Amino acid sequence: MAESTAKVVEADDGFLGGIYNEIVASPVNLALLAAIGYLVVKILQGWLRKEEPIPTPPPPPPKMKRQDMTVQELRKYDGNTPDTPILLAVNGKIFNVTKGRRFYGPGGPYEALAGHDASRAFALFQTDSVKEEYDDISDLTATEMQSVKEWEEQLGDKYDFVGKLLKPGEEAGKYSDDEEEKSEESPKEEDKKND
Ligand code: HEM
Repeated sequence: MAESTAKVVEADDGFLGGIYNEIVASPVNLALLAAIGYLVVKILQGWLRKEEPIPTPPPPPPKMKRQDMTVQELRKYDGNTPDTPILLAVNGKIFNVTKGRRFYGPGGPYEALAGHDASRAFALFQTDSVKEEYDDISDLTATEMQSVKEWEEQLGDKYDFVGKLLKPGEEAGKYSDDEEEKSEESPKEEDKKND
């Protein structure tokens, strides 16, 4: 009969020796030991993986200089030019929606709104209701205007305000060079201060 390769520990090796003998004496115990070892390795690997550094999120998009724009100027910021902010307007206010690139960037669900006045699209809840030229929204009903204002508020909470969307013939406001877009202050409040 082939001799067992496992070393049998003498009885006087004490408690641990007894356990060792029990384990090596039976193939079932050896198999269980191997399974436990495998699980321990897997658990340790899991812990080590968790301790890997979390990838740092991309830096926030650079702030834009505070500025008012015509619809034509706004169109340049439709997300199709790399490294250019994405802007959209609602109810006469332009917001920097670059951090929402997954919504407004190329292939995003709301890409049609980028670089455009999205007021009518929000009012009618149709992404393709955006015009290429200035859109006079005075024909919207009170309910539709209510919806536009709610979207304006929602976007204003999340995105930085860049400036006013200019009506045809309206002049851009003058802002100091170091003035950046602001998140909360509406152009009306700004105007009041400047009066
Ligand atoms: C059946 C139709 C629609 C469904 C199921 C839908 C669903 C959603 C969902 C789930 C979000 C939240 C996404 C997130 O925060 O991860 C969202 C955001 C949004 N939706 Fe829709 N949507 C629909 C139609 C529209 C339409 C027609 C418009 C525009 C006219 C629109 C404009 C927006 C905008 C602007 C946001 C916010 C994106 C942001 O945070 O910047 N949605 N939509």
